[in-house]
Amino acid sequence: MVTKLDVVQALLPKITVPQKSSGVAFAPSNIALCKYWGKRNVELNLPVTSSLSISLSNLGACTKVSLADAATDQIILNNEVVASNTVFYRRIVQFLHLIRPTKDTVFNVTTKTNIPVAAGLASSACGFAGLVLALADLFEWPLALEQLSILARMGSGSACRSLWHGFVEWQVGSQANGLDSYAYPLEYHWPELRIGLLLVDKSQKPQTSSEAMQCTVETSPFYSLWPKTVSQALQETHAALASKDFWSLGAVAEANALAMHALMLSSTPAIIYSQAPTLDYMQRVWRARAEGLAVFFTQDAGPNLKLLYLVKDEAKIKELFAEVQCVAPFEAVPHTAECLYDL
Ligand code: PMV
Repeated sequence: MVTKLDVVQALLPKITVPQKSSGVAFAPSNIALCKYWGKRNVELNLPVTSSLSISLSNLGACTKVSLADAATDQIILNNEVVASNTVFYRRIVQFLHLIRPTKDTVFNVTTKTNIPVAAGLASSACGFAGLVLALADLFEWPLALEQLSILARMGSGSACRSLWHGFVEWQVGSQANGLDSYAYPLEYHWPELRIGLLLVDKSQKPQTSSEAMQCTVETSPFYSLWPKTVSQALQETHAALASKDFWSLGAVAEANALAMHALMLSSTPAIIYSQAPTLDYMQRVWRARAEGLAVFFTQDAGPNLKLLYLVKDEAKIKELFAEVQCVAPFEAVPHTAECLYDL
């Protein structure tokens, strides 16, 4: 079996040493319009299907890494030291083990996020993408972004899409080592597109997306339908993006999210991330749409909803959903330096 370390050694055959005192980077969060749900290889986070996302501009994670003269890695998240007995700490440290030049190398990792952590707002995606970009900056790895995307994928699947702004596709690939399973940016530019974040619950989700995915793949009687569903959704999404057909884009994204949640509902045990307010929001979206408003939703492994709409309807959206946080994916795209002022 190919291990994560084999992949890292294939990408970085020579031991590298830091080229500067610290590496810094920003990575945006991303929301999938065609979802990644199910792994064909759990060790390497290789997906069953391709997926397609939109990045959330200046919402994401800023990360700084440096070497430390200490016994163990230190991780600081949003100004707080992360305890070494937490799942979060272990996940990051396991990832750092893959790229430690020597076994005595110790890292300091400081991250700031402006989105809730582990609440289905793709915090692990921007977190691992930011970490990989910061490490690449520290070591000045001679790697293309697509190769860094492979490294980010091994931290968290959807992280491989968080290396770019705008629309991004993660190609499924077919090689056993996953060297052809990476993301790349798509050319489509849609400045009028908006994402509205509706937070239902900011707390950590009870079940990680990896656990939920695995349970779905192993137990849902409908999982065999998923690859065809996604491949059709991807085709329709590309067509909608190419022709800027918002109603088609929204329809396919909403249907794809609901299909993913239907798979979870049909798993044993059933997995339901929605809470009562999630369903209430869905019904409000459907009512608004029945009255002619172009608004759709998508939902990830959490209770929060993300609305899709166009800037011309923003006033109406804010009137209907007073608490919505509006994101313009093609505006205010930050430069790394702007995000790092207080790290
Ligand atoms: O990358 P993970 O393991 O956090 O899984 C992400 C799963 C979804 O967000 C639900 C779908 C996606 O494509 O981002």
